[in-house]
Amino acid sequence: MLEIRAARDQDWPDIFPIFSAVVAAGRTYAYPEGLTAAQARPLWMEEPPGRTVVAVADGTLLGSAKMGPNRPGRGAHVATASFMVDPQHQGRGVGRALGAHVVEWARAAGYRSIQFNAVVETNTAAVHLWRRLGFEVLATVPEAFDHPEHGLVGLHVMHRYV
Ligand SMILES: CC(C)(COP(=O)(O)OP(=O)(O)OC[C@H]1O[C@@H](n2cnc3c(N)ncnc32)[C@H](O)[C@@H]1OP(=O)(O)O)[C@@H](O)C(=O)NCCC(=O)NCCS
Repeated sequence: MLEIRAARDQDWPDIFPIFSAVVAAGRTYAYPEGLTAAQARPLWMEEPPGRTVVAVADGTLLGSAKMGPNRPGRGAHVATASFMVDPQHQGRGVGRALGAHVVEWARAAGYRSIQFNAVVETNTAAVHLWRRLGFEVLATVPEAFDHPEHGLVGLHVMHRYV
């Protein structure tokens, strides 16, 4: 039974190893590499109006998502979000549950749409999942991500109305 709930301060020690593993793999996010837990914390644990959630099953934290306005002020009706699932637990529906949660959250919070700013085009799991959740690729910024195996690859801007 997967529970998605708001992240608490005491969840960060369980989120950080996932953050570190995903960033160190180098295939999906352009966060700085080698961050300490203290340095990474404010990059993932959102303050209102943003929000960070965790996916937990049987007391084990399997993944996390953060969400909030994509832009301040006159862009604040468009949401954005980021997702990380423990590499040892990927491919088992956690990402789908987190993505569906974010769409529901954005709708309930009164956002007009959700924009993902930088989906690595070779990230087949993410691109597939976001399409399944109703997102479309609006454009691809060429050669914007330096992938460890594929070299310079594009970053998709993906969007859906909520
Ligand atoms: C992308 C990510 C969030 C997906 O979460 P997940 O728990 O692994 O995915 P799910 O098990 O919910 O699978 C969702 C869909 O993607 C598919 N999928 C999962 N892994 C896949 C892979 N390696 N290749 C192709 N499709 C894949 C599943 O089959 C499923 O599709 P379906 O419903 O049509 O069967 C997760 O893999 C992750 O954290 N990756 C590293 C960080 C990242 O890429 N974040 C997103 C950046 S935009």
